[in-house]
Amino acid sequence: MTTTQQSAALIPDDVARAAVLPESYTDEKNVTYPAFAWLRKNNPLGVAQLDGFDPIHLVTKFDDLISIERRPEIFANAPKNPILNSQADDAFIRSLTGGSIRSIDVVTYMDPPEHTTIRRLINPWFRPGNVKQFAEQVRGLAKREVDRLFDYDGECDFAKDFGLLYPLRVIMTLFGLPPEDEPKVMKLTQEFFGTNDPEEQRAEVAMTPDAAARMWTAAVADFNAYFHQHTMDRRANPTDDLLSIIANSKIDGEFIDERYANGEYIAIATAGHDTTSATLVGAMLALIENPDQLRLVQNDMSLVDRLVEESIRYVSPVKHFMRTAVQDAEVRGQTVHEGDRFMLCFPSANRDEEKFGPDSHDFDVTVDRGKHAGFGFGPHQCQGMMIARLELKILFEELLPRLGSVELNGTPRYTQTNFVGGLKSLPIRFRHA
Ligand code: HEM
Repeated sequence: MTTTQQSAALIPDDVARAAVLPESYTDEKNVTYPAFAWLRKNNPLGVAQLDGFDPIHLVTKFDDLISIERRPEIFANAPKNPILNSQADDAFIRSLTGGSIRSIDVVTYMDPPEHTTIRRLINPWFRPGNVKQFAEQVRGLAKREVDRLFDYDGECDFAKDFGLLYPLRVIMTLFGLPPEDEPKVMKLTQEFFGTNDPEEQRAEVAMTPDAAARMWTAAVADFNAYFHQHTMDRRANPTDDLLSIIANSKIDGEFIDERYANGEYIAIATAGHDTTSATLVGAMLALIENPDQLRLVQNDMSLVDRLVEESIRYVSPVKHFMRTAVQDAEVRGQTVHEGDRFMLCFPSANRDEEKFGPDSHDFDVTVDRGKHAGFGFGPHQCQGMMIARLELKILFEELLPRLGSVELNGTPRYTQTNFVGGLKSLPIRFRHA
């Protein structure tokens, strides 16, 4: 028995599988959320010991998640993988990198002081005062996208035909990338987050045991190659777009190493796309299932800010990040040990009855729920949260007043992922107001 198992109660296998495995997230209502509710009540910091995985503490309570995230000196993102992989997949990555789990130089793989230095380079760009200036540009995009939605003549797949495109277009506009590159950037971000979903895998690797890790590596190589030319271009011809800000960032008077620039592009392109898509599409399903909530917002558009926050809490598009204890510590009065791994279960924290009340499973824009866990906490808290809020708010403002009725027109389907994602298909039937 490992140290981890001695100090925490083992989670029953069926519950552990329901909370951890990517396939469980394809039926979150019947599989993952009931498992999280059971864990919060019976074993909120227990250890999942699944075949092929390291033992991991599942952090399912809101307060525990904050307490871990706010102690980065104890609960680090490195040196183990900040994203949960099987032992075989992690071994495969290490075999490619010569031993490191860090296949890309993205901020999520870093701890202070490196994390602080890199994140600081573009922090000013993400501050509310700067983000505000893009509101009209984003509104223009939102209006065009809503016009496009109504061109579908009353029926579409809201995930595939709408939800994926709008956030991608926003992020590409902010970056300053040409619209004709859209299919390429779309495919790359999908591959990053859809590695466990058989439908998202590259055909040539889909049948091999190392498929997910191989696909990840291939996506990284494609990303790096794609952005290299843009870095060179912006260094030669600086502009005021985000690409140029990153490409021309300097440490000690020197341009940042290209691996850091690539890491920043990857972080923003991937984190800024599927998260917002999943929130938007999940919010649409919640509004279809709760038509009273849709009417409430349509009749009082001042509720839109509440709708944005409730959508992020309710959908929780980021399913987990991992932390590793670098020294012994206490969480929930329980001793945890150096080397222990923690899966921060954001969807569970966001349904914690102790924080959000007995109706935490309801989608309700009339209640002020206070702070939610959807963007995380501490030094790794979502860097793009002001952008995410802005683009969701503007989209709802443009879409909802024009929406007369909306209903399901088929079965919603979820991406098979325990990392970032949500609905990949939401067939709807709708009418103009
Ligand atoms: C509703 C949409 C979004 C949600 C729910 C979301 C959520 C999150 C979460 C939970 C984290 C990890 C926090 C942690 O480890 O404590 C994160 C990190 C991050 N997000 Fe977001 N995000 C969203 C949209 C965006 C957008 C639009 C961007 C960029 C434009 C973005 C950029 C980032 C970056 C760069 C990080 C890494 C921060 C770090 O490790 O220091 N996100 N996000």
